[in-house]
Amino acid sequence: MALTETNEMNPNLSKLKPYPFERLAQLKAGVTPPAGKPHIALSIGEPRHAPPAFVIEALNRNMDGLAAYPQAKGVAPLREAISRWLERRFGARLDPEREIVPVSGTREGLFSFVQAVVDPAEKPLVLMPNPFYQIYEGAAYLAGAEPYYLNTTAATGFLPDLDAVPEEAWKRARVLFLCSPGNPTGAVMSREYLAHALELADRHDFIIAADECYSEIYVDENSPPPGLLEVCHQTGRDDYRRAVVFHSLSKRSNVPGLRSGFVAGDANVMRDYLLYRTYHGCAMPLPAQLASVEAWNDDAHVVTNRAYYRQKFETAIEILSPVLDVTLPPAAFYLWPAIHGMDDETFVRRLYAEQNLTLLPGSYLSRDTAAGNPGSGRVRISLVPDIEECREAMLRIRAFVESL
Ligand SMILES: Cc1ncc(COP(=O)(O)O)c(C=O)c1O
Repeated sequence: MALTETNEMNPNLSKLKPYPFERLAQLKAGVTPPAGKPHIALSIGEPRHAPPAFVIEALNRNMDGLAAYPQAKGVAPLREAISRWLERRFGARLDPEREIVPVSGTREGLFSFVQAVVDPAEKPLVLMPNPFYQIYEGAAYLAGAEPYYLNTTAATGFLPDLDAVPEEAWKRARVLFLCSPGNPTGAVMSREYLAHALELADRHDFIIAADECYSEIYVDENSPPPGLLEVCHQTGRDDYRRAVVFHSLSKRSNVPGLRSGFVAGDANVMRDYLLYRTYHGCAMPLPAQLASVEAWNDDAHVVTNRAYYRQKFETAIEILSPVLDVTLPPAAFYLWPAIHGMDDETFVRRLYAEQNLTLLPGSYLSRDTAAGNPGSGRVRISLVPDIEECREAMLRIRAFVESL
């Protein structure tokens, strides 16, 4: 029999779980929502504010770059712009030659990073928050590692409780994923929390992969979320050992289609990661690299972007708080309310059936553990459409909850 008929391909593929949006499509199948109401999707975390005109112009201006193969390392002006941004934003000075690698969006970066740093022979663990961005888990499985879930609940301040991880798990830990600000919770890790994570990384010899792709979407203009490199720098750890961060222009600059992000930190790790990437073959096209330079160089558009989200949070909380347990998160663009008296799938399905509005069931973003599924009984509301559509959506959610 042919290989393709026997399912003898990479056995790790069979460990991958259905993607949350596949499950959502199945949940909605066969439901006919009211025709009079246009559909509103608050399920996907895809930014929908307009991309900055100057980034589009830079892209157009540099289209002749399509005539050349881009290199995995990225052009020096991009790595230098990123280095300047890291210094402006986090006070950390990274060497653009050795400590920064551009990636085609953090999704690709998070995935490929795990492939590069995991030795499957060690039967390693990849620790991750639960709920989590699904790529962490898929990357772990496909690298031959085992995911280990750290529940984030209201009781833990929506952060993983690192002190509750047993010694045996730390012994096998190769990578610890942190996500701050968190998706879906919006929770932000303090400097003390990050410093503690670094101590644990030293004690047990693992790498911290800090997904900070929401770091520029925060509520209080005077208190930007701290970053892992910032804490390294403040604690005199200027070699960033065992620390690697992931950043993206998708949320910061509303260009999810540009596929532009970077990975930065520990030079030894970055050297091996760059070697891996030479084969992985996801170098960012040159026009995208040059447009990214302009995006990283400008902070004004990011301030404006935050103001839009702030406005939407205010509207959403004003409309929903009388009927739902909504609290303003410090960052990111999600609400993560607990719903009472109904499971999250039923809530989402009925809301779609009655209001033609789609949310994501919390349990689709998290896994069952011995202590339960930390996403069940919650829904994720993405405040990505414009303010008017968000207002209309909140009124529909409120009407639905009131009708129950
Ligand atoms: C937590 C988290 N990390 C990473 C990503 C990937 O973003 P991108 O690949 O656009 O940089 C997302 C996208 O939704 C996300 O929510």
